[in-house]
Amino acid sequence: MKKLVSFAVLLAFLAAACSKPVAPQDRLLAHEQEIDALIAQMTLEEKVEMLHSKTNMSSAGVERLGIADMHYADGPFGIREEGQPNGFMPAGWTLDSATYFPTGSALAATWSEDMAYLYGTGMGKEARLRGKDVILGPAVNIQRLPVGGRTYEYLSEDPMLSAALALYYTKGVQDEGTAVCIKHFAVNNQETNRGSVDAQLDERTLREIYLKPFERAIREGGAMSVMPAYNKVNGDYCSENEHLLNEILRGEWGFKGFTVSDWGGTHSTMGAMLHGLNVQMTGSNYLGQPVIDSIATGALTEEQVDEKVRQILRVRFAVEAVPEDVANTVMTSQPESQAIARQVAEKAIVLLKNDGVLPVAPEVKKIAVIGQNAVLKTQSGGMGAGVKALYEVTPLEGITSRAAEAGVEVAYAPGYRNYARRMWGPQVLGPLETAQIDEAADPELLAEAVALARDADMVIFFGGTNKNIETEGSDRKDIKLPCGQETLVQALYEANPRLATVLISGGPTDLQVLEPVSPAIVQGWWNGTEGGTALAEVLFGDIAPSGKLPFTFPVKLEDSPAYALGNFPDKNTGGDLFTLMYRPDVLAMTPEQRQAFIDALPKPVSQYTEGPLVGYRWFDTREVKPMYAFGHGLSYVDFGYGDMKASAGKKGVKVSFVLTNEGSMPADEVVQLYVRRIGSEVEWPDKELKAFRRVSLREGESKKVVLEIPVEDLRYWNVEKNAWDLEHGKLELLLGSASDDIRQTAEVTI
Ligand code: GLC
Repeated sequence: MKKLVSFAVLLAFLAAACSKPVAPQDRLLAHEQEIDALIAQMTLEEKVEMLHSKTNMSSAGVERLGIADMHYADGPFGIREEGQPNGFMPAGWTLDSATYFPTGSALAATWSEDMAYLYGTGMGKEARLRGKDVILGPAVNIQRLPVGGRTYEYLSEDPMLSAALALYYTKGVQDEGTAVCIKHFAVNNQETNRGSVDAQLDERTLREIYLKPFERAIREGGAMSVMPAYNKVNGDYCSENEHLLNEILRGEWGFKGFTVSDWGGTHSTMGAMLHGLNVQMTGSNYLGQPVIDSIATGALTEEQVDEKVRQILRVRFAVEAVPEDVANTVMTSQPESQAIARQVAEKAIVLLKNDGVLPVAPEVKKIAVIGQNAVLKTQSGGMGAGVKALYEVTPLEGITSRAAEAGVEVAYAPGYRNYARRMWGPQVLGPLETAQIDEAADPELLAEAVALARDADMVIFFGGTNKNIETEGSDRKDIKLPCGQETLVQALYEANPRLATVLISGGPTDLQVLEPVSPAIVQGWWNGTEGGTALAEVLFGDIAPSGKLPFTFPVKLEDSPAYALGNFPDKNTGGDLFTLMYRPDVLAMTPEQRQAFIDALPKPVSQYTEGPLVGYRWFDTREVKPMYAFGHGLSYVDFGYGDMKASAGKKGVKVSFVLTNEGSMPADEVVQLYVRRIGSEVEWPDKELKAFRRVSLREGESKKVVLEIPVEDLRYWNVEKNAWDLEHGKLELLLGSASDDIRQTAEVTI
C-alpha cells in the first residue's frame, strides 16, 4: 500500500510539474469545441448581427441559441449611468448611482499595484450589479502632452508605471468575472483632430513607450477585449491597422479576445474585416449588411466572419451573462467600493511643497477656505468617463467636518468664477460661472476672499481646473491657472502668508506665479467619492501624504517635448473628422457624398519626433529643470535610505536596501529605481524607471526592501532585428524618492 501511495504522489507531482501554467490569453481557449458547435448552428445573418452594435452600449448575441447580448459600460473610474438605447442621454434610472473612484491620474499617483487591483475589483463588482459584461477601461494611453484633454483619465507619462497599474486594474476587474476593454489602442495622446489625426512615430518608440501598458495588461493580465483608438498610426486607422491589430496584438502577443471600435471609430467594411476589428460601435453601415454583400461577391468569406464570431464567443463564455431580473436590483455603489475609493484617494494626494504650514497647526482656530474648486463636484463631465455618483464628499465638506472635530471654525468664499460649458442645450451661466477661461479676477469676489483671509489664522486656497477645461474631445490651449486664480492667490498671500494651496485638477498646471506665494502646495486630483474626506485627513495630519507625481509639472508648457519641437499643436487643423461626421449637413449627405467630403478634408498629422523622450525622459536628457519632477511627492516624515546592495545575473538585476521612517508618525514611501546606461552603443534616455514599491512604515521603523528588474525589462526594440534585444554593458542604478531625488546609486554589468 505504501508503495502505491508514494507512486500516486510522484505521479501527481510530475503532472503538476509538467502542466505549464496556462498563458492568461489562452484561458479564453477553454470552450473551442462548444464554440465550433454554436457557429455551425448559426446563420450568416446571426453571425453578422454580432459584429456591430445592437443598442448604444450593447452588441447582439443569438437568443435562439442561448447566446446573451454583450453589455458594455464606460469606466474607467465608475460604472456609467444607464443611457438611452439609442444614445448617451441618461435613462433616468435610480439604482445606477455608482461609486466614483479617483480618476486615472490620481490612481497612478498612488504608485500602488495593490490599489490598482482593489480598484479593479470594485469596478468589476459594480459592473456585475449593473448587468454589464465589459468595462470600457482602463484607459492607459501615455500622457504625452501636458494639455491633453484626457490626461485626467489616463495614468502616467511613464510606460512602466502605466503598465503595472493597467495590469493590476485588469486583474482586479477580471477576477470579479467582468471583462476589461483596454483603451485606446493605440497612440491616442491628443484630442485635437482625434478622429483623423495620423500619429507618426518610429517602431522603437511605439514598442518601448506607447504599447507597453497594453502589452502587459494583455499578455500578463489576460485582458479580454481591446478598443482600437479613433486616430491613425503611421497611416492606418487603428480600427483597421494590420500592424497593430493582427501582427502585434494577435500575432506577437497572442491575444485571443475581441476588439470593439471606439464609438464612431469604424471606417470601412474590408479594412475592419481584414485588419482586425470584431465589433463596430455604433451602427452597422460597415460590419452589417455590407459584410453579407461582400461574401456574396466573394470579396469576403464566411470563414472570416466565423473567426470574428469565435473571438467574441470566447469572451462570452468567459464572462457569465447577468440575468435581466438580477441586474440593477440593488444600488450600484456599495460600501466596500466606497471604502476602496477612500483608500486610493488617501494614497493619491501629493504634497508638492511644504514650508511648514501643513499639517494644520493646533493653534489654528479659524481657516478661510477660498475657491470654487473646494465645492465643485468632479464626478460628472469630461464626456465619456463621467459618473453619476451615489455621493461625493467635496473638499469643503471634508475640511468642515474634520475641523469641527478639532473645534476649528471654517469660513468659505468662492474667490473666482468657474469656467462652465454645457455639453448641450443653452449656455445659461450662473452668477459664479463664466464662459471665459482667461477671465481676469473679479474685484468683488477677490475683495470678499481677501477679507476672509485677513480674518483667519490660515488660508487654504483651492485652485486648478475643472472638467469643462480638461475633458475628452478637446485639449487645453495652455496649462495656465484659469479665471484670475493667479491674481487672487497673490492677494490672499499678501493678506495672510500662512497659506496652503490645493490644486484640484487632472493634469499639470503652470505654477510660476502661484509657487512663490504658496508656502504649501498639494495636488488633490479629481479624487473620487471620498476625495474630500481623504484630503482633510492629509491636511489635518491624520495621515501623512504619500502620493507621487505620475507626470512632470513643467515650469512652462513650452518646455515640454512636443511643444519644444513644434510637434504640437498640429498646424493642419482641417477639422476633426469625428466631430464633422456628426454635423447635420454631413449626416444628410449620401454615403458617396460623405466619402467625397471626407476625402477632401486636410489630413492632420502628429509627428512624434521626440521619440522615446516623453515626460521626464525629455526633461532629464535635455537637462530642462521642471517645476516638479516625475515621481516627486513629500511626506510629513523623512525617510532614510541605506545599505544599498546590487547584483546582476542572467535573470536580471536585484537591489536591496534598508528604508527607515525617521519621523514620528506612520507613513508610506514610494521607492523608485531608475536605470542609466553607461557607455552604451544604443541611444537611451538619461534614465528610465524600472522598478518601484510603496512601503508602509511605522514611526521609527526600518525595513529591508528588495527590488528586482527582470532582464526582459532591460531590453530595447532593435529595429534592425525587428525584435527585442539586450545590450550588454554597464548600468548605473539610481535609487530614490523621486526621479530628481536620488538617494543611493550602484553599478552593475549585464
Ligand atoms: C468615447 C470614448 C471612449 C468611450 C466611448 C463610449 O468617445 O473615446 O473612451 O468608451 O466613446 O462612451
